[in-house]
Amino acid sequence: MKKITKIFKTPITEKNIEIGPDVPKDVIIMAIESSCDETACAIVKNGREVLSNVVASQIKTHQAFGGVVPEVAAREHLEAINLVIASAFEQAHLSANEITAFAATVGPGLVGSLLVGLNAAKALAITHDKPFIGVNHLNSHVCANYIDTDLKPPFVALLVSGGHTQVIKVDSYLKQSIVAETIDDAVGEAYDKVARLIGLPYPGGPNLDKMAKNGNKNAFKLPQAKVKENEFSFSGLKTAVLQLCQRLNKELGDIPKEDVAASFQECISDTLVKKVLHIAQECDIKTLALAGGVAANSEIRRKFFELENCGYKVYAPPMKYCTDNASMVASAAYFLANTMDDLTQEVFSRVK
Ligand code: KG4
Ligand code: ZN
Repeated sequence: MKKITKIFKTPITEKNIEIGPDVPKDVIIMAIESSCDETACAIVKNGREVLSNVVASQIKTHQAFGGVVPEVAAREHLEAINLVIASAFEQAHLSANEITAFAATVGPGLVGSLLVGLNAAKALAITHDKPFIGVNHLNSHVCANYIDTDLKPPFVALLVSGGHTQVIKVDSYLKQSIVAETIDDAVGEAYDKVARLIGLPYPGGPNLDKMAKNGNKNAFKLPQAKVKENEFSFSGLKTAVLQLCQRLNKELGDIPKEDVAASFQECISDTLVKKVLHIAQECDIKTLALAGGVAANSEIRRKFFELENCGYKVYAPPMKYCTDNASMVASAAYFLANTMDDLTQEVFSRVK
């Protein structure tokens, strides 16, 4: 069988360094993630063993604006980056010469923010003459499932984040293909918008999740979009919640927020489980993995883990590896998931 390894060149002396799950010796990758509002740095051994995982969150800063302000985010990354890198080395008790390669998220994300992490990783790679590996943010969310587990392809992954909603068929470490995608809002976006509608502060998703626990999920029947097999759509649901809140306000002078939150969460989690299950049945794959910030959602996790009773093996990263972090970036770099090794690699904001 073909070995899964790739040769990366060091930037100064152009030495060949082999990376991948079939490399017989330990590979230690330091990665940086700065695509949105978290400045993160991690060191991971052989793609699965986290030696350090440091995250500086900007949530408090952006709360005042009700969402992420790109220019502010980039400046905060600049302030945090050196501290975060230093503390990742310190926690792992390692120095730069013990690192096999340096990786960073190259996109999709906020360009000004991505540039901070990318340039820091490139600078480390050049200074220490180690390979630089550029990583796709979406692939890295999926690879969070390799951390501390024995997960091996093939599996079907559901990626649900603030900017993306995709079902991805992972045939091998190297081959991932998108089999379904949203045609409008991402799940996280829908959560954040509905949370704002019912007066919850940023970040709306986790706050709505908490509130829904005290509500009746059957209080209101919300619509599931009628779309093609390879599509999701959540903008109609968001409008339905808006109209429901307007009606309730008019009729009752108040919104039973807990019930609205629970009914919305029920509708969205049911839509996601049904579609993923259908795709897994079509592909005849019995292993499922959740990924992305919204994979931290309690009801979505509960419904997916329920599938274990129907013969599915379900993976979902612990909360700290669901939301943006750098361990997943190091894992993606190790497993060579859509990696780029050219030092001229630029950042990008959207999937081309
Ligand atoms: O993956 P992520 O950290 O950043 C992006 O790449 O987008 O995802 C952030 C999204 C936000 O929309 C946030 O509200 C949502 O994940 N989120 C949640 C929960 N925790 C985070 N949504 C629902 N329930 C949660 N528990
Ligand atoms: Zn993300």
